[in-house]
Amino acid sequence: MKRVIVTGGAGFIGSAFIWKLNREGVDDILVVDSLGTGEKWRNLAGLRFSDYLHKSEFLRRIDAGTLSFSPEAVVHMGACSSTAERDADYLMENNTRFTRTLAQWAVQRKRRFLYASSAATYGNGEAGFSDRSDLVKLRPMNMYGYSKHAFDLHAERTGLLGKIVGLKFFNVFGPNEYHKGDMASVVFKACLQIAETGRVRLFRSHRVECAHGEQSRDFIYVKDCIDVMWWLLTHSDVNGLFNLGTGRARTWNDLAKAVFAALGCRPEIEYIPMPEPIRETYQYHTRASMASLRATGCPLTFRSMEEAVHDYVANHLQAQDRYLCSASRNVRAVESRGADAGINDPGVKVPP
Ligand SMILES: NC(=O)c1ccc[n+]([C@@H]2O[C@H](COP(=O)([O-])OP(=O)(O)OC[C@H]3O[C@@H](n4cnc5c(N)ncnc54)[C@H](OP(=O)(O)O)[C@@H]3O)[C@@H](O)[C@H]2O)c1
Repeated sequence: MKRVIVTGGAGFIGSAFIWKLNREGVDDILVVDSLGTGEKWRNLAGLRFSDYLHKSEFLRRIDAGTLSFSPEAVVHMGACSSTAERDADYLMENNTRFTRTLAQWAVQRKRRFLYASSAATYGNGEAGFSDRSDLVKLRPMNMYGYSKHAFDLHAERTGLLGKIVGLKFFNVFGPNEYHKGDMASVVFKACLQIAETGRVRLFRSHRVECAHGEQSRDFIYVKDCIDVMWWLLTHSDVNGLFNLGTGRARTWNDLAKAVFAALGCRPEIEYIPMPEPIRETYQYHTRASMASLRATGCPLTFRSMEEAVHDYVANHLQAQDRYLCSASRNVRAVESRGADAGINDPGVKVPP
């Protein structure tokens, strides 16, 4: 594997995957994204790649057949990843149709194609979380989830799924998610809340059978995701649509406690009422069924949530440079570069 296109390469998972590629000795990488005026560019600053193209220019060249970069693989993480996005036309064009065009382009050229679907395709989870369930039965609860599901359905109906790999990511957290605002993980938000107030705010439970903060999710560390993605990229005999979680459900209380432990603070959790509009549709439990990915032979060795949160907090959020950096393999070396590197952010400050 020498030349790779990574779309969404300035985003959270995409940039982490470029870091993984760099560690595997791959740096002939075309990054496709839209940088805008935000801070996403910082995700790229410590990585090695050969070129960058805006997503619109990239699509224009794909359509026109004029893209000069000839990759062995396309890793398509690029999408509007906001579950709150209301512009359905934009999501259909930018997420669904874009993915269709790119998948077709890659498959026609016999290139490896790996794309991001989402656990949001499972909707409220009534039909379970098995990636072998009948796709037609799934009912996503927001337009973002539907934009992902629409491509999954297309890929299944046209037989594409037998030639490509889709990953239904569950709740991913880790370094390089800092630009995501409201869509950032609760680990990151909790660190910010603790730094500000010393407390973490979690939603109350509005079901008698579930105590406050005992709602659960399948949380997965981005460093574990990218190992699985690399394995899939380099095992071209494996195709299909797979869940990517840890296969374990952990509670929000556990998550908050892991953050407090990593910061060395006593847990203080405040339970706040869940906003009315989301009470009806709120998921109380998610857990990825990992049987089908395991059956492919893909090694699934995930860090425990406590281990992952500790690594994230200690080696990134509290480090001088929070970003994944390919120039060095460990954080200390990055720290020694000091502020001159120009990509440093103040780490999370813990209250005394
Ligand atoms: N993080 C999670 O927990 C999670 C869970 C389930 C699924 N996923 C999926 O995993 C992928 C990566 O997620 P992420 O968390 O890394 O999101 P992210 O940080 O928002 O990264 C996605 C990047 O892709 C850009 N983009 C949007 N449309 C694009 C297109 N058509 N072509 C190329 N780039 C495009 C986005 O720019 P704009 O900001 O301008 O849109 C953004 O910079 C996404 O497809 C997401 O839907 C993530």
